[in-house]
Amino acid sequence: PVVMGLEGTAHTVSCGIVDDNSILSNCSSSYVPPRGGIHPREAADHHADHIVPVIEKALAESGLTMKDIDLVAFSQGPGLGPCLRVVATAARTLSLKFSIPIQGVNHPLGHVEIGRKLSKAADPVMLYVSGGNTQVIAHLRGRYRVLGETTDIGLGNMLDKFARENGIPFPGGPRIEELARRGSKLLEIPYSVKGMETSFSGILTAAFAFLSKGESMEDVCYSIQEVSFAMLTEVLERALYYTNKREILLAGGVARNHRLREMVSSMAKEAGMSAYLTDERYCMDNGAMIAQAGLLMYEKGMREKIENTGINPRFRIDEVEAPWIESSNN
Ligand code: ATP
Ligand code: FE2
Repeated sequence: PVVMGLEGTAHTVSCGIVDDNSILSNCSSSYVPPRGGIHPREAADHHADHIVPVIEKALAESGLTMKDIDLVAFSQGPGLGPCLRVVATAARTLSLKFSIPIQGVNHPLGHVEIGRKLSKAADPVMLYVSGGNTQVIAHLRGRYRVLGETTDIGLGNMLDKFARENGIPFPGGPRIEELARRGSKLLEIPYSVKGMETSFSGILTAAFAFLSKGESMEDVCYSIQEVSFAMLTEVLERALYYTNKREILLAGGVARNHRLREMVSSMAKEAGMSAYLTDERYCMDNGAMIAQAGLLMYEKGMREKIENTGINPRFRIDEVEAPWIESSNN
């Protein structure tokens, strides 16, 4: 099938088109707040203004028309309510106007499935690190399960918040990565792992405190990265032994970070596992990832009624059946 995917849970509105073999197109427009964090209503206005041009561009790039589309998939949650509503409305409109089936998609499932499509990882343990989410996920008993996650804020949000307070615009992650490369002094930032759970708000507090004590921005950024990435590598490794799986997949916006990629790769190497690092272009939110998850659902015969396409701002990945993977180990 040929599937169109619409994404718009947070800062980016995007349309991607995929088929079984490849990504045919992927076009996005990101909302950049003039200052401060993302204001949901302003982001939603941005999405409403840009969704039609983004869809038109994705169709043009793929050389297709709506007649060629077999399914319209859209990100149903989790995310910002007003943003989700814009995207769901657009998807319903396309579905009704062109009589195409519609499928709501869990956003983290999209991050995971585009990573698998690009890497050919069969049944990996995943570290999904983005703005709002920091989760270790594996496929067990018919669906993806969250084995560990942050108990407070997502790692990306922590980085963005630290950046913002220091005058660095959204997204802060890439700039922090650059600064960290020039740091070398490891400051005593709290390493917070409890079982499979991580926590990042204490790191934020400590980072601000070190800055006001006169430590350099470079060393503080370096320390934030070293500590939080080591925490995640630890829980990821534990999840591998727990599940007996042999592959690792790194997904989500923070997965673009080279230091994190390096740490996860070297852990995998030492443990004799394969690490798949999602292509950087598809780490951040994009329509192709929603299309890919929709495609897998469609191929398994999963169909959604238009009445059930309401948004779900707290949608969790373990609410969805994922019968397209045979768990290698349970
Ligand atoms: P979610 O998937 O939880 O809904 P999101 O949709 O906001 O979150 P993504 O687009 O997947 O997130 O990722 C955005 C996040 O990735 C931002 O917090 C941004 O700072 C972070 N990020 C992007 N590039 C880097 C980098 N090189 N290093 C660290 N973080 C990065
Ligand atoms: Fe995301």
